[in-house]
Amino acid sequence: MFKIPPIAPERLPDLLRAIPKAELHIHIEGSLEPELIFSLAQRNGLTLPYPSVEALRSAYAFTNLQSFLDIYYAGASVLLHEQDFYDMARAYLARAAADSVVHTELFFDPQTHTARGVPIETVINGLHRACEDARTLLGISASLILCFLRHLSEEDAFATLEQALPLQDKFIGVGLDSSELGHPPEKFARVFARCRELGLHLVAHAGEEGPPAYIWSALDVLKVARIDHGVQAFKDAALMQRLAQDRVPLTVCPLSNQKLCVFPDLKDHNLRQLLEAGLCATVNSDDPAYFGGYINDNFTQVFAATGMTARHAYQLASNSFEASFASEADKRIWQHKLKESFERFVEYD
Ligand code: HPA
Ligand code: ZN
Repeated sequence: MFKIPPIAPERLPDLLRAIPKAELHIHIEGSLEPELIFSLAQRNGLTLPYPSVEALRSAYAFTNLQSFLDIYYAGASVLLHEQDFYDMARAYLARAAADSVVHTELFFDPQTHTARGVPIETVINGLHRACEDARTLLGISASLILCFLRHLSEEDAFATLEQALPLQDKFIGVGLDSSELGHPPEKFARVFARCRELGLHLVAHAGEEGPPAYIWSALDVLKVARIDHGVQAFKDAALMQRLAQDRVPLTVCPLSNQKLCVFPDLKDHNLRQLLEAGLCATVNSDDPAYFGGYINDNFTQVFAATGMTARHAYQLASNSFEASFASEADKRIWQHKLKESFERFVEYD
């Protein structure tokens, strides 16, 4: 185990911003900033139901997940052409690189677009080209995870999978997002079983607003490798033990949880407790354009609110690599870079 060198507390925010990290829970449609929504609307000849960027931004006051999703799906309606998807992902990837993200696995919601008549090829090709360019232009690796919308039917999910399969070399896995309550993971048991046969990586949102039972069924019915959010696990001691024992990663999103009133005060967020219970928790931004911050804002704000230290920072960044679907060789390189970046901070003291 790496011995964490002493780091002055006032240097912690700079350390958090500088350390290499992976982002594993980011909905690319949730990275659409109001300015980009307006410029894409103009480019595509669309009129938005908001008079200005400021008016749109001021509508971002959420009381729960559904109140956010309604506005998030409306924002995504400006995406029509391959170049729109490319530009959105390109903007996020540049922003992620500036936050010392070295690897990211991006969620996308094809049904949000195919329901509006946008071909799935337009979506996937635009996003995939931005991921490829990120490697050469920004030096970061990026891959795609296709998410099924859980408020829609199993039949719709199967139809989406069929449409996506000719492009299977352009995404690495599938996930499950959108309205959680009333849509338990088992609704998609057969879809996930098929995706498993196809060799795709599996993840699912569970335990964001939903009960621990949804986390159990994501694990035991869908057989996912990671749980997105999962913060409600703390209500079930046996589940906490299972997650810790199996090192099942949780992709936690502190500012999202605050803005959607899961933990209305960041001081009460349970990330620190999850980590200290031995869970493989990670920090992520979820929908950074809507929740007031990218990954480094999530790190600095949750650390300030809960009093976590450099030791927690090391563990979270290390967990993000462990939890990723990257190769073991890449993981080793990033873990090494993480240690180096800690050592650099000590030398400059
Ligand atoms: N939860 C569920 N669905 C989502 C989210 C989320 O936090 N963000 C975008 N789609
Ligand atoms: Zn999410």
